[in-house]
Amino acid sequence: MWSFMMWPRGHKVDLLVLFMCIITLMLILPVESHPQNNDQNKRLFLGCNWKCAVETTDEVDELCDNLNRMWGSLSSEEKRKVELCVNPPYVYLDRPNIGNTGTTTAKMLLSLGCSSVLLGHSDRRNNLHETDQLISDKVKKALSAGLGVTLTIGELPYQRTWGLALLTLRKQLEAAIKGIQPNEWDRVVIAYEPVWAVGEGATPCSPKEAQRIGSYLRRLITKRVSADAAAACRLTYTGSVNEQNAVEYASLEDVEGFVVGRAGLDTTSLRSIIHTLANSSG
Ligand code: PGA
Repeated sequence: MWSFMMWPRGHKVDLLVLFMCIITLMLILPVESHPQNNDQNKRLFLGCNWKCAVETTDEVDELCDNLNRMWGSLSSEEKRKVELCVNPPYVYLDRPNIGNTGTTTAKMLLSLGCSSVLLGHSDRRNNLHETDQLISDKVKKALSAGLGVTLTIGELPYQRTWGLALLTLRKQLEAAIKGIQPNEWDRVVIAYEPVWAVGEGATPCSPKEAQRIGSYLRRLITKRVSADAAAACRLTYTGSVNEQNAVEYASLEDVEGFVVGRAGLDTTSLRSIIHTLANSSG
């Protein structure tokens, strides 16, 4: 399909764009009702995705010490309002794996004291070719084992350019939610990750757009699953969140936290983001 982009500009391309817009509209329109997110007791979420930024045990020890110190310095109100979730690569968990070669099971993670996993990140989807089906299987296994799941979904730059952002998100989300049981939604965090807004030098996603997508995802979950599921899970935003811009995103109604990459490696930034979330009115 993407070879369209190489065609000479002209009539055919215009018709295709029109066709895609109509398809996208048809996919958006059925999702209409707008559930309200007004559970004041729900904890906001702040996930840290270490990726490969921390590569030695000394660096891990130093970051963990800093994180523990920072967490200890927060007020009890901040700790009550914000859940901090650290996602290291599993090599930095306590013990080596036992089992099938190179495989990490949910049970192993639980036995090491882990409480949740980050699945579906664009790095895994696009660099390691994880499919919607594989991610859905992992979501199902992790939840049924008792873990929480941060499910990342997001569109690539060309998908946005071609007006396919909502279609992409819908496809990824619908595949993943198949394996989620009604009583598991309170252990689900959805992280909207516009891939074009992630990492050094990326184009920031405007808060207005983050809210439009958050609201779309909530309506989609309401329609496809239930209003209870849409209210129980947490919808978060990820992509270049930092201590300067967090305040704008934190006030959005359908953004209930963040997953951060770079900002999660700096405990001063992290502390400031927690403070912003805890004081947000979103
Ligand atoms: P970033 O990473 O915060 O450094 O942009 C976010 C992510 O990878 O989802």
